[in-house]
Amino acid sequence: MKNKNKTVWGARFNNPTSKIFEKIGSSIDIDKRLFKEDIFGSIIHTKMLVKQKIINKNIGNKILFGLKKIKTEIQNNNFIFKKKYEDIHLNIENRLFEIIGESAGYLHIARSRNDQVITDFKLWIKKSSFEIVRNLNILIKSFLKKSELNVNTIMPGFTHLKNAQPISFAHYLLAYVEMFKRDKNRFLNNINYIDECPLGVGALAGTSYKIDRNFTSKKLGFKKPTNNSIDTVSDRDFALDFLSSASICAMHISRFAEELIIWNSDVFKLVTLNDKMLTGSSIMPQKKNPDPAELIRGRAGKNFGSLQAMLTTMKGLPLSYYKDMQEDKDLVFNSYDTLLESLAITNELVKNLKANKERMLSLANEGYTTATDFADYLVRENKISFRDAYKISAKLVNYAEKRGKKLNELNFNELKKFRSNLNKNVMKVFSVNNSVDLKISFGGTSRKNIKKMISKIKKELKV
Ligand code: ARG
Repeated sequence: MKNKNKTVWGARFNNPTSKIFEKIGSSIDIDKRLFKEDIFGSIIHTKMLVKQKIINKNIGNKILFGLKKIKTEIQNNNFIFKKKYEDIHLNIENRLFEIIGESAGYLHIARSRNDQVITDFKLWIKKSSFEIVRNLNILIKSFLKKSELNVNTIMPGFTHLKNAQPISFAHYLLAYVEMFKRDKNRFLNNINYIDECPLGVGALAGTSYKIDRNFTSKKLGFKKPTNNSIDTVSDRDFALDFLSSASICAMHISRFAEELIIWNSDVFKLVTLNDKMLTGSSIMPQKKNPDPAELIRGRAGKNFGSLQAMLTTMKGLPLSYYKDMQEDKDLVFNSYDTLLESLAITNELVKNLKANKERMLSLANEGYTTATDFADYLVRENKISFRDAYKISAKLVNYAEKRGKKLNELNFNELKKFRSNLNKNVMKVFSVNNSVDLKISFGGTSRKNIKKMISKIKKELKV
């Protein structure tokens, strides 16, 4: 590597890389984000080479010195990344030559960029998955806080966007807590699959040196080395797992955003957002638009797109390494950045969200939401079948609808027309509060259940 400014493969090549290919083939602008992981991997690899007496201590120490210096340079923005060295691995190796001279040439013994890049990438995805989990915890706490404030806020629950049955707003918010808990677990479960160390499989076949893969695996914080060298360099499942988990999480966020947008509309008026989370119109002075919610709904598309792109990249690839796979990092980094921002915006949205309690209550009484409660009452008190009770309740709804009345506006005599042996206590069946509190089955919306569930989740999360 005496020939300055040449690629590592320069010895075999007669012509320099074409400019346009250098531009497209270089991934340094993207994968420089892996510098910490790359240097960490190289440090452990060097220590292993020394331990196994593959390189001598003196050379090993020089390499370690150089690597640490490079890390400081990059951290202090004193490192010049060069496109002509393609990626983070070769940029660092090139700089190592500049710092320690020819000893740098020993670092790449028993290693290929094929195993190096996945080692870096797996380490990065592991770290970043924990960062997403940390952010999900913050979001869950905000949802829990809002739930605690809204146990007594009664609203209509919807199916098909038609008023269905009364629920507590807290119960609705806790539904999202469940989704985000699953998202957390999805990212954490991925760690089980990612936790196998690729370093040492070389280009694809393994290596003839007596390396110690258990040592490098352990020192890099993996559970064990990967089993098959070909699979190892071909595998991007861990990136797909990440992208898939990010997409599902983004989908949850997007559903929440969608509901906020609908509920904040002038038609629903169920929630109000603080001005901090709204924008105006350039022409209509009256407007306050929920742009942040729309943005995160829109951005879910970016997360899905990255997953789709990665799947498409992988579907036709023969084993083992192909340059196609270099695109993986851009997709994962993008999805990660997008998701982290979306999580942060969602958190702000929840914090700045106010339930319009009166409107919620009044809408909960619209649309005959207690019709099922009346049917259930007849089953319980009159010992009739649910189907018979359903018919009676449906007739009652038709009757009320014709007269433009809500169910709780009907009097006892009107009710008796539909079932003669009714007891006066039937009247409370049409109270939405009563309806909510009767849903005592595990996971149901009764306020007693909700309070218990909030403290259970708080205990689980230690908040
Ligand atoms: N920058 C490359 C990538 O991210 C590293 C692996 C290169 N290996 C190779 N055989 N060209 O995929």
